[in-house]
Amino acid sequence: MIEINFPPLDSDHRFLMAMLDELARAAREGADANLLEDQSLEVTASLESHFAKEERMLEECLDAKRGQHMARHAELLDSMSAMNGAVLSALGPVGAYERVMSFANELALEVAAFDLEAAPGILALQKS
Ligand SMILES: [Fe+2]
Ligand SMILES: [Fe+2]
Repeated sequence: MIEINFPPLDSDHRFLMAMLDELARAAREGADANLLEDQSLEVTASLESHFAKEERMLEECLDAKRGQHMARHAELLDSMSAMNGAVLSALGPVGAYERVMSFANELALEVAAFDLEAAPGILALQKS
């Protein structure tokens, strides 16, 4: 995961990646649908609160790309919500593992595409 050099968001990103790693590992080890459901709901809640926090900052600093950026957040949140326990369980251990890892990769790409560019504006706002 790329660092954007704004610690409050970098630590969220690391935390989200660690949660996704855990979910992927549980899926690969054949955890049942209920356990996968619990973990998936936890990741979804953390992702939602991270996006909300970041979006408040984007609005505050009037980030030029906030429209596109927030639309990407909404898409990612939809695809995370769709990875519920039943769906992951139906994919089987390997399929579910790959699905979660592919989502983690999409999230990392979002950070590199949008958060990195927004960071200087957010930082300037925090210092002012
Ligand atoms: Fe982010
Ligand atoms: Fe973002």
